[in-house]
Amino acid sequence: MGSSSPVSQSTPGPPSRGADAAVRREVVLTGDRPTGPLHLGHFAGSLRTRLALQHEHDQTILIADLQALTDNAGRPTDVRRNVLELALDYLAVGIDPTASTIAIQSGIPELAELTVLYLNLVTVARLERNPTVREEIALRGFGRAIPAGFLLYPVSQAADITAARATLVPVGSDQLPMVEQTNEIVRRLSHLAGRSLLPECRPLLSDTPRLPGVDGRKASKSLGNAIALSAAPNEVRAKVRAMFTDPGHLRASDPGRVEGNVVFAYLDAFDPDRATVQDLKASYRRGGLGDVALKRRLEDVLDALLAPIRVRRRELAGDSSAIEGLLRTGTARTRETAAGVLRDVREVFALDLSTIPVGGDWDHATRFPENVGRDTTHEEATE
Ligand code: TRP
Repeated sequence: MGSSSPVSQSTPGPPSRGADAAVRREVVLTGDRPTGPLHLGHFAGSLRTRLALQHEHDQTILIADLQALTDNAGRPTDVRRNVLELALDYLAVGIDPTASTIAIQSGIPELAELTVLYLNLVTVARLERNPTVREEIALRGFGRAIPAGFLLYPVSQAADITAARATLVPVGSDQLPMVEQTNEIVRRLSHLAGRSLLPECRPLLSDTPRLPGVDGRKASKSLGNAIALSAAPNEVRAKVRAMFTDPGHLRASDPGRVEGNVVFAYLDAFDPDRATVQDLKASYRRGGLGDVALKRRLEDVLDALLAPIRVRRRELAGDSSAIEGLLRTGTARTRETAAGVLRDVREVFALDLSTIPVGGDWDHATRFPENVGRDTTHEEATE
């Protein structure tokens, strides 16, 4: 399970002063694109880690709606709707808004400006080399018609991470290139500034192997082979019954394969009774354990996990104004940190407007540009 290791991975801090000084508090930033409901793969891979991290560290979870638009520009209202659904998923699994900050990317315009500035530190060749983006481009069949925003989303992700001054980024292995690119930008920026401006970050990889879809392929929304955290009981049951097991295991008495068997992958991820799972594997291999009995156990395990999530989700969904309030607060808090970072980065690029000799009140000049350059000293007197 990925729930206990993350908290013990931080580098040694200052000498212990009391019980909780053993773990150095770090700034953690993670995020998701709001492109659909979270599923059991997210739970095993990232949500459990976040639940474990939230009380030990300063964790921000970013709902990356701008990033979602980079390949969903044709479906803006879907992205918008999924923002709230994603927040519901977080809260339903136990993300505690008093411990974690949940923020919406598009509510933090500083991120867009940071992205534009960081783009000066990155070449097109470097963007094209990012292995995850390459893979995604191939998968989406963009060919040469790559949305420019999509190609540069790793830079916007660098803005997300650095705007929080994050040092720890819990991610799946597909996101490692983003962390690497972020640190490259941080180093270039420090070089330009002549001092260390922003902290570099470390990835925190989940130790849970990627959970397959019910058909044994990679879990994906478009294939419909994942089990959503919000799935109704009969849907969960139907998906478990459809799970790929071992095609050679025809009768209960036949010996069966455990490797590549989706039911065992899910039991490994979610059955709290490890010893019994080991016994089940042994008897499945030996022959004598049927798929139906095995699947019934998994149904019970998933029901125990999902029932309370479902209940909590229903409670929360009834009070969407409370969730909106919480998102507003989280976004405002994150924005404050981002504004400080942007101030520093603007300074590195010599964009401190207070040093521009425009004469008079700069703020007035930016708001009423038609007046800039006009001598207004005597206007009031003559009117
Ligand atoms: N790219 C991430 C994903 O697709 C989502 C994301 C956006 C993210 N911003 C982030 C992850 C910042 C970690 C840190 O899952």
